[in-house]
Amino acid sequence: MSGSTAALFQPAKVGPYELKHRVVLAPLTRLRCDSEGVPTELVSEYYKQRTTEGGLILTEATGVSGGAGIYPGGPGVFTDKQIEGWKKVVQTIHDNGGIVFSQLWHAGRATSKDFKEDKSQIFSASAVAIKDTCVFTGKLYEEPRAMTVEEIQQVVQEFAQAAKNAIAAGFDGVEIHGANGYLLDQFINTSSNFRTDEYGGSIENRARFLLETTAATVEAIGVERVAVRLSPWSEFQDMEDETPYETWGYIVSELKKRHPKLAYIHFIEPRDDYGRKTQNDTVNTLDPFREKWGGQFISAGGYTTKPELAAEICEQTGNLIAIGRAFIANPDIVYRLKNGIPMNKYDRNTFYCPGAAGYTDYKKYDEDVKA
Ligand SMILES: Cc1cc2nc3c(=O)[nH]c(=O)nc-3n(C[C@H](O)[C@H](O)[C@H](O)COP(=O)(O)O)c2cc1C
Repeated sequence: MSGSTAALFQPAKVGPYELKHRVVLAPLTRLRCDSEGVPTELVSEYYKQRTTEGGLILTEATGVSGGAGIYPGGPGVFTDKQIEGWKKVVQTIHDNGGIVFSQLWHAGRATSKDFKEDKSQIFSASAVAIKDTCVFTGKLYEEPRAMTVEEIQQVVQEFAQAAKNAIAAGFDGVEIHGANGYLLDQFINTSSNFRTDEYGGSIENRARFLLETTAATVEAIGVERVAVRLSPWSEFQDMEDETPYETWGYIVSELKKRHPKLAYIHFIEPRDDYGRKTQNDTVNTLDPFREKWGGQFISAGGYTTKPELAAEICEQTGNLIAIGRAFIANPDIVYRLKNGIPMNKYDRNTFYCPGAAGYTDYKKYDEDVKA
């Protein structure tokens, strides 16, 4: 570890909330909920271990409806049981001084009909399948059908309702998942959107679904409790766009024009080596998006492989820094970063399996020392 961690430990504002430091738990799908998408005691324990006084926790991708295509063990926030389950998780985080946003998610084509409540064909912007094997079915991805405009409008309302449900569960806010090749991203990228109606073609049209979802969610729970996650450089799930700077530049400009008081916008760095064929990209950058936005900005990706970058990028940009895999393996990562303590290594084999192993059994540094 090198350099000063001073900036990382400066307070920051997220919507109406005061953070005491800038290290954020990235949203991480861990699939430890029950078969009805309800977070369990174990899920509470996992988040509690990662909560710090004044720290921001982003919970995992959470289905907005029975049609969202939740993977087995993943959560939803659309049934009473799910809302009750989340209440306990949120309470535990609040009791330990944390601030917590729920990440609202619809898989679009990145799931299987088997994971939809009514087992109906999956849908997306266009009838184009991901050319890969789905890790959750072990089979090739199914071919989706193109959504109708009525279905798009319905999903917009599902996000708004899920946001209200998240607030009812006690969450401090929601993050709309517009990244990593899930439904909203499938509309944004030219590699997956071949529509000829008002949701396809021009950048304005491809951004429309995300912007309508954001507007409806803001209308439902208030602008300061809403955030958006985006990933212009992700190649995961066949994402590619012909004009990334123009496309996401337009999205950021419109978000700023329409909702300048969003809690934050959250971008994934191009140098992230997770789900990317090209590693350590030093050409592409998030700087134009940072500059356009000007408000609270979370930078994610790359801080697991190079934890020292957290302090460096925070010093340079003042951004909040979200950490994924290293936060899985180091529940006390905030303490470790502050004190220059080396990190435990994560175990990829236990990212998505049920149970406590690789979930709640990573040791804090003090426990390691005692052991
Ligand atoms: C096991 C695992 C689950 C993930 N689940 C989500 C998710 O639910 N939502 C999301 O936006 N990103 C998800 N991501 C991406 C992370 O939020 C993060 O952007 C990525 O891991 C890069 O950060 P890192 O280099 O610190 O790990 C996931 C990543 C991993 C490794």
